[in-house]
Amino acid sequence: MTETAKLIIDGKTVELPIIIGTEGEKAIDISSLRQQTGYITMDVGFGNTGSCKSKITFMDGEKGILRYRGIPVEQLAEKATFRETAFLLLNGRLPTLDEITQFSVMLNDHSMIHEDMQVFFSSFPRGSHPMNILAAMVNALNSFYPYLQDETDINFIFTRLLSKVRTMSAMSHKISRGHKVVYPKADLSYCANFLNMMFDSPVKPYRIDNDIVKALNVFWILHADHEQNCSTSAVRVVGSGKVNLYAAISAGISALWGPLHGGANQAVIEMLTRIHEDGVSMNSIIKKAKDKNDPFRLMGFGHRVYKTYDPRAKIMKKMSDKILKKLKLDDPLLDIARQLEEVAVKDSYFVDHNLYPNVDFYSGIVLRAMGIPTDMFTEMFAIGRLPGWLAQWKESMDDPEWKIARPRQIYIGNPKTKYISINKRDLETKEAE
Ligand code: ACO
Repeated sequence: MTETAKLIIDGKTVELPIIIGTEGEKAIDISSLRQQTGYITMDVGFGNTGSCKSKITFMDGEKGILRYRGIPVEQLAEKATFRETAFLLLNGRLPTLDEITQFSVMLNDHSMIHEDMQVFFSSFPRGSHPMNILAAMVNALNSFYPYLQDETDINFIFTRLLSKVRTMSAMSHKISRGHKVVYPKADLSYCANFLNMMFDSPVKPYRIDNDIVKALNVFWILHADHEQNCSTSAVRVVGSGKVNLYAAISAGISALWGPLHGGANQAVIEMLTRIHEDGVSMNSIIKKAKDKNDPFRLMGFGHRVYKTYDPRAKIMKKMSDKILKKLKLDDPLLDIARQLEEVAVKDSYFVDHNLYPNVDFYSGIVLRAMGIPTDMFTEMFAIGRLPGWLAQWKESMDDPEWKIARPRQIYIGNPKTKYISINKRDLETKEAE
């Protein structure tokens, strides 16, 4: 028998079904509440609202747990590749040897993009933000590859998109610098290919370093999915109107761009750079972050779900140490980040508000060490999040319970007001004067 919750409202008792997830998380199903009582629920920012049942990602914000399809992210970061993780998210299980080989061949076979898209790229004004370009380009794929939507094998469409987004990102970097575009190479892995397209040049051939390739795999694995976050919800909400896949993914890219979400990785580096250049003390920056009259927030700190250390930030912190050591780089921003964390995690405001470093706090240091320009950081996040968006979009499309997303509201504007013609309004104003 289904468990229920009882709600007493206006003297009437209504019973609402309880839903329990695999890991014991609980929800009250209020979908019949308005019908039964005339009430809706109010939850600004959806902090207490489940929008779907999902089999993709589990996270426990109190315990700092993150699992894709049941597998802890720590194990994937240590042992898997990004390709394998993408397959896992999309298919619900790890691939066989044959399947991963076939997946890799498809990623290589579809990595080229329509030459006309280069013209599209070049038409963007100089200095355009790469996220602006990526969101527009992904949306435009529907015009350049309209047949993709008609394909019956959805995994084929997904694989092509994963491959093309990677090529488009590297291409946008080259074009933005006025450099010759580097084409993908069939003999390189997904991550190595991206690095080569980004950094190879006729004057300085790029040398593939396995540690850097591993670091990029880890970076993308850690970003691959994060259940119903802002950008993933955007993909599901926009997709719920049955737009084409590219329009839904483009909406996700736009949502990710904001500094409170994926744009935080760029904002963290900009914040650390300002602290470094202006010689600001740790205590004064912490004081500024705590000041309620100051809009400043400590970027890379805090999370809607994690009320403890973000498990991805732990891995990213170790990775930043490792990669800087390996490249014999001495990045002053890493020292500042470490000092800032040390002061913040002991500060009573940060402790009381459960504010800990999130994935974005150390990820910029890793990306800088790889040579990725700061304005491309959020785009790097977007490439990593693509398998998650695709898996979530597919799950929503296949969900028999899924409906067009349409929240309600409580209206607090004017009561019913009579229309007065412009001449009469004018006369009334003059008379009042
Ligand atoms: N610095 C200072 N104070 C903070 C911070 C911060 N980074 N984050 C939250 N707070 C405070 C708020 O001022 C608020 O204080 P109050 O209750 O005394 O008024 C309290 O903590 C709760 O903050 P909310 O904004 O209500 O928390 P919410 O869950 O809505 O926000 C968010 C989460 C947006 C991530 C927030 O912590 C933040 O702005 N962080 C900085 C930006 C950032 O790093 N974003 C990346 C998140 S990870 C990702 O999306 C990949």
